[in-house]
Amino acid sequence: MVPDAMSPIESRTFKAKDGREVVLRSIRWEDLDDCIEFINSLVEEGADILRDTKVSREEEADWLGKRLASVDKSELIDIIGEVDGKMVANSEVEKRSGLMSHVGYLGIGIKANYRGIGIGTRIMQTLKEESKKAGLKILVLDAFATNKTAQALYTKMGFQDAGRIPKAIYKNGKYTDLIRMTLEL
Ligand SMILES: CC(C)(COP(=O)(O)OP(=O)(O)OC[C@H]1O[C@@H](n2cnc3c(N)ncnc32)[C@H](O)[C@@H]1OP(=O)(O)O)[C@@H](O)C(=O)NCCC(=O)NCCS
Repeated sequence: MVPDAMSPIESRTFKAKDGREVVLRSIRWEDLDDCIEFINSLVEEGADILRDTKVSREEEADWLGKRLASVDKSELIDIIGEVDGKMVANSEVEKRSGLMSHVGYLGIGIKANYRGIGIGTRIMQTLKEESKKAGLKILVLDAFATNKTAQALYTKMGFQDAGRIPKAIYKNGKYTDLIRMTLEL
């Protein structure tokens, strides 16, 4: 039987490579404004994420409400990274259901000026630990084939290539493959 314990995580602090203090904690309703700014900044820079249009406050409130409900129901781990009280990272592992209850789908994003200083690595380590605690056995993620930084991070964390979906992404008039990676916890 798969344990069912994806409760909010205890907050923790670490120093990034540039000396900035980073808080990792569970997402809260009060993060709504930060969530809007965060996702819209990724959309604006054209980051390799699935969303390509900015969110409205209403859409994001709906999204956050559902997300918090999923955390409450132990279906989701959501870890944000905060520097000087502002959200600079968001990440999740979403538990699959039924015969795939032992599988979690991972996603992560770091704000542009906070990349390359170890936040992604620390969040991935924390997601792995929390997923294990929650009884998950397998983590799965997808990355744009063009996103070499993300793939380097995932490989470093032990993920292995599990396949490629040709032309899964259509961005700026061009097709890009999606790479699937998995990790056995
Ligand atoms: C991909 C992403 C999550 C990585 O997070 P990060 O905080 O920058 O990662 P870290 O600083 O912990 O670096 C992790 C590894 O990534 C690689 N990496 C980081 N910056 C890199 C760069 N500029 N060029 C190439 N590789 C890089 C390195 O292998 C690094 O490990 P190392 O420091 O031990 O050498 C982040 O760049 C991001 O959010 N990008 C935009 C959104 C996105 O692409 N999300 C993932 C969608 S699949």
